[in-house]
Amino acid sequence: MARLKVGVLISGRGSNLEALIAACAAPGFPAEIALVLSNRADAAGLAHAARAGIASRVIPHRDFSSRNAFDDALDGALAAAGIELVCLAGFMRLLGAAFVARWRDRLVNIHPSLLPEFPGLDTHARALAAGMRFSGCTVHFVRPEMDSGPIIVQAAVPVLPGDDAECLAARVLEAEHRAYPLALRLIAEGRVRVEGECVTIAGSPV
Ligand code: GRF
Repeated sequence: MARLKVGVLISGRGSNLEALIAACAAPGFPAEIALVLSNRADAAGLAHAARAGIASRVIPHRDFSSRNAFDDALDGALAAAGIELVCLAGFMRLLGAAFVARWRDRLVNIHPSLLPEFPGLDTHARALAAGMRFSGCTVHFVRPEMDSGPIIVQAAVPVLPGDDAECLAARVLEAEHRAYPLALRLIAEGRVRVEGECVTIAGSPV
């Protein structure tokens, strides 16, 4: 069966990209990363794409006079590469409503909290300040409002006594590196359906 063609958008470190690349390299994995796009030329994650022989392109948002023009450039590159699913992996630009609508239910993001708790930045410090006993990560379909949309996979980790934001982030990041490949596999296997803004997964429960 043809593998799902995935485009990954990054802005920085790219550890989730690395996890997705590793998953796609496993025999029989139903998806392949065909393109990596970054809005920053200095994104360390671009090295992961290069090492894996994956095509990448830098599209600096500063080169564009409007959000829509930048989004159109991303869209053009994704379409030219025949991309079927877009994965945001530490992509630090808000995408406009038109782009999000064009890719509806074919655009996913990973966020380092158990959404809908703690959308936005500084999630780990905020989880600690709220006295949470658990935190985690969420892979979700993207909707125009930041860090919102139907939830595909969540992974929870405990908050332990003495945690600071840095060590909680590291624990959550390990969970992210399992959750994102799992979500990608489920989507690529055609098992993920959005019904009334909730996701159902055909076959076994996650
Ligand atoms: C991750 O914590 C992800 O959940 C968030 O941004 C971070 C990106 O890390 N959206 P990396 O670039 O994948 O290492």
